[in-house]
Amino acid sequence: MRAILCERHGPPERLALRDIPPPEPAPGEVRLRVQAASVNFPDALIIQNLYQTKPPLPFGPGSEAAGFVDAVGEGVGDFHVGDRVAAMTTFGAFAEQVAVPAARVLPLPETMSFEVASGFTVVYGTAIHAFEQRAALRSGETVLVLGAAGGVGLAAIEVARAMGARVIAAASSEEKLALARRHGADGTIDYSREDLRAGIRRIAGDRGVDVVFDPVGGALAEPAFRSIERNGRYLVVGFAAGDIPSIPLNLPLVKSAAIIGVFWGSFVVADPEAHRRNAERLYDWHARGLLVPEISRRFPLEETAAAIRWVMDRKALGKVVVTIGEAG
Ligand SMILES: NC(=O)c1ccc[n+]([C@@H]2O[C@H](COP(=O)([O-])OP(=O)(O)OC[C@H]3O[C@@H](n4cnc5c(N)ncnc54)[C@H](OP(=O)(O)O)[C@@H]3O)[C@@H](O)[C@H]2O)c1
Repeated sequence: MRAILCERHGPPERLALRDIPPPEPAPGEVRLRVQAASVNFPDALIIQNLYQTKPPLPFGPGSEAAGFVDAVGEGVGDFHVGDRVAAMTTFGAFAEQVAVPAARVLPLPETMSFEVASGFTVVYGTAIHAFEQRAALRSGETVLVLGAAGGVGLAAIEVARAMGARVIAAASSEEKLALARRHGADGTIDYSREDLRAGIRRIAGDRGVDVVFDPVGGALAEPAFRSIERNGRYLVVGFAAGDIPSIPLNLPLVKSAAIIGVFWGSFVVADPEAHRRNAERLYDWHARGLLVPEISRRFPLEETAAAIRWVMDRKALGKVVVTIGEAG
């Protein structure tokens, strides 16, 4: 099978397309014939050895895929050859076949294409986990989403809206904010031109926001936290800007607000039942048209490096997908 391999750490341009034997599914695993795989921000970090998980070389990058089951390992009862599924692979998704534990596979609704499915579970799964299990978001609350036109940012807008919240979207360009509005944002802030706190005051008045969803970090974190309401919740989702910010601990005290970590990958393993319930709710919202996944670019397998580069260079809107099979 053809697979993208990271043989030496470095930028995406160092990745190689190789012909290697397909993986055999171990007991408890299923193997996918991959039709599409999406780029997630950690893919750019892991190939540079900058991510918390450090697989030994050589390894195949790619953490999320969708396709047909084409083999099942011993002891797998829930899946059969030919099933349409989405999988959180951790590694190896940018390949024609990948083996993955059955617990990390979800059956796909008929209505969802492989391309959409390949970029659905991580971003929407993270957003619903953040708002439901971590922030206990209530209908009528106001949410600020930073990096609002990125993969998880755009998903967070739609999930917060589906849960009845009002959403302020903040991003770095008018093009990104126009996309955020099309996906349901009630108000927008271009933080490349307007001070974030001034923008929040312009939209929300003196009240501030109840929940901040932050996949960006860096210099935006403290001003965002300073605009939070009493009993507010600040969701630490990621650090796409590169810097891990420090919030002075007097701020949560004086604001009676909480800083809450979100780690979707560990939640999926620790509470698979809650993860499955979240996924069912997301599929239902998708079928009802409340979630409208945005795929802004598609690349063939041999151009996977360009797909990762597109995300690294802050150019991605919504999801970037690598198409692999015929049925994408
Ligand atoms: N905690 C979890 O469980 C979890 C789960 C999934 C993802 N994440 C994390 O969430 C973050 C976003 O992931 P994603 O897949 O949504 O990425 P993405 O699509 O690339 O979005 C990231 C956004 O961050 C902003 N950004 C600011 N500075 C940037 C920089 N120097 N380089 C790139 N982007 C920059 C960009 O928006 P503007 O240009 O508008 O600023 C961009 O749209 C990542 O840190 C990822 O690791 C965490």
